Amino acid sequence: MKATIRLGKEISAIDPRLYSSFLEHMGRAIYTGIYEPEHPTADEDGFRQDVMELIRPLRLSHIRYPGGNFLSGYRWKDGIGPKSERPVRPELAWFAIEPNQVGTDEFLRWCEKMDIQPMLGVNLGTGTPQDAADLLEYVNGTLPTDYAELRRKNGHEAPYNVRLWCLGNEMDGPWQICAKTAEEYARLACETAKMMKWMDPSVELVACGSSFRDMPTFKSWEQTVLRHCYEHIDYLSLHQYYTNNDDDIPSFLARSLEMEDSIREIAGLCDEEQQRRGSEHRVFLSFDEWNVWYHFQKAGVFPPKWIYARPIEEEQYDDVDPLVTGSMMNTLLRNADRVKIACLAQLVNVIAPIMTEPGGRAWVQTIYRPFLCASRYGRGVSLQPEVETEHYDCAIRKKVPYLDCAAVRCEDGSLSLFLVNRSEERMQVRLPLEQRFGEAALQTLRGTDLEDQPLSLDDTEARFSLPPRSWSLLRLLP
Ligand code: AHR
Repeated sequence: MKATIRLGKEISAIDPRLYSSFLEHMGRAIYTGIYEPEHPTADEDGFRQDVMELIRPLRLSHIRYPGGNFLSGYRWKDGIGPKSERPVRPELAWFAIEPNQVGTDEFLRWCEKMDIQPMLGVNLGTGTPQDAADLLEYVNGTLPTDYAELRRKNGHEAPYNVRLWCLGNEMDGPWQICAKTAEEYARLACETAKMMKWMDPSVELVACGSSFRDMPTFKSWEQTVLRHCYEHIDYLSLHQYYTNNDDDIPSFLARSLEMEDSIREIAGLCDEEQQRRGSEHRVFLSFDEWNVWYHFQKAGVFPPKWIYARPIEEEQYDDVDPLVTGSMMNTLLRNADRVKIACLAQLVNVIAPIMTEPGGRAWVQTIYRPFLCASRYGRGVSLQPEVETEHYDCAIRKKVPYLDCAAVRCEDGSLSLFLVNRSEERMQVRLPLEQRFGEAALQTLRGTDLEDQPLSLDDTEARFSLPPRSWSLLRLLP
């Protein structure tokens, strides 16, 4: 198998927020994930430092919080003030007991420690526009008003200055607490957005798109939301998880092409609405949940309901999954002109690159390293790779290119290529170069680590080969 990659035009500067993630009050993401006061590595606030040390290298820009489906039943006032006085609640999104020992202040404190920006959600399931405005006042308020004073009383004198906010979560999903029709959601989101921007004009708002591509509401939902909310929102969200329930690896590896279709189609709807209005305002995309997710459901072993830190959706990723998440990351990079925020969902224990044992160790999974490498070596300008390669047909799609690639000209003048060989054969690759590079390195993912590969580099070309069904990183240094 052979392929040639030519580097084409600049797509866009890459927004650092493309390297964001997600922590929900779900399963063991928070309790026994990032927070476990009894753990030997817990700091003075009860946060596990072994987990912090695994998160740091990911250099995350933002973390979306507190959900997810959890958001649609969340009463944020339950999670502030003295911990001993906080209510314990039955949590209806994931059928667990919610002790409210981590709430807004604790999460924002954790973010400060981690030097990560929060992306907070407001509840538009059971919540009201007033609840959302009150939360914003609590978090960012600068006046001597009730909720801003309450934050001061609870120990945080200065406003947190949280800029990025989600207007609800997956509100078209029948699984959602108080799901809405498109019209219901669009009106509610519009009025909430108005109140939030009046309260704090510096905030940026993300409205919910459809929950995923196969929803019957896909596209018509977005059109309705854009029609009602266009001037009041800054981003429209997309979510997508891929499965391999049929053990059909060629189709599984082709799924990222559908992600590309979704981005183009929803960006097209944003453009249409902009033109229809003759507006100067541009709405961008926030791909704020993406990953592979199916192993836990497929195994079919479920923990009892109504327990604390109910251990659900603890995916155990295999060696094919990082090829899919790698090509999803490549898709985000190739669409960096429209996608400005993207959250790998999630971060710890739940559909996650990082796992923990309660009271015990923490470790990383196979999907960890491709994301880490992209975050580390994928900052700068995204370049259009023109890939010549053979194609295959599979159950879900025709003409799937065997090679998937994203290319980034980094801020330090180096070049990074993120490569997925979808084929079962080794692939010989040529990369003609218009510029001279001094050094090059190729590394391929093996398990959770990288393995060096040979390559040749002269003034005009790099040549290398990619192992069958592999994810690789090529770095060219000036
Ligand atoms: O990330 C897990 C869940 O997936 C989220 O709570 C929800 O938004 C989505 O359906």
